Amino acid sequence: MRRILYLLPLCLFALTGCFQADQSNQNKEASTNSTDYSGGNALIVYFSKPEMNGTDTVAGASRVVSENDEILGNVEQLANWISEDTNYPTARIETVETYPDDHDTLVDQATTERSSNFRPELKPLDANLADYNTIYIGYPIWWSDMPMAMYSFFETNDLSGKTIIPFSVHGGSGLAGTLESIERLASGATVESENVLSISRNDVPDAQSEVNDWLKSLGVN
Ligand SMILES: Cc1cc2nc3c(=O)[nH]c(=O)nc-3n(C[C@H](O)[C@H](O)[C@H](O)COP(=O)(O)O)c2cc1C
Repeated sequence: MRRILYLLPLCLFALTGCFQADQSNQNKEASTNSTDYSGGNALIVYFSKPEMNGTDTVAGASRVVSENDEILGNVEQLANWISEDTNYPTARIETVETYPDDHDTLVDQATTERSSNFRPELKPLDANLADYNTIYIGYPIWWSDMPMAMYSFFETNDLSGKTIIPFSVHGGSGLAGTLESIERLASGATVESENVLSISRNDVPDAQSEVNDWLKSLGVN
């Protein structure tokens, strides 16, 4: 039964052509925050997996092409804009075994990892988390959850005492309960759960001003 429940979002994902329905408005809460994050030392940590086949984000592939023709994942694009606006450094969460570029193969692998509750081994992060008191954490929604690499990240790093500000990209599922997972995994950390940036991948190419507004609403930038 549990297995069927896990596989349900997977089937929906396959059938609906990757969540074209845009539920992003349900999760954009960028104007309600009352906490000011302008002080302190912040780092932007993110996981992102651009897909190399398909045409572009709007056509269903998970990637954007930057102004200088770089291929970026959607979350990577948001991380770069946050960094551009704030000068906070970025650090990418990377697995030792790289994920496939091809959409269908990636989907198959993510399915297997999720159903077996797998924890992919991570490369060392290119930053020292101890140097920062605020961590922006970006991730895509995979199977109405975080990718398993995010579980590896939270379970192998002590984030207690830090402030975590999540941001995410989805294909229709919104945040899908991931904030609750982060709160549970990052014990001892303060998780910003009122003012979280959650953007539909269809909107990512035009979302720079939304990112900027979100940062302003957090009191930074
Ligand atoms: C394996 C896989 C599973 C996904 N599952 C979901 C899902 O359950 N719900 C959803 O809204 N989007 C889902 N998506 C869409 C991604 O959230 C979306 O493409 C996102 O932009 C990926 O970000 P990235 O390009 O930074 O990796 C899935 C994508 C992949 C590759």
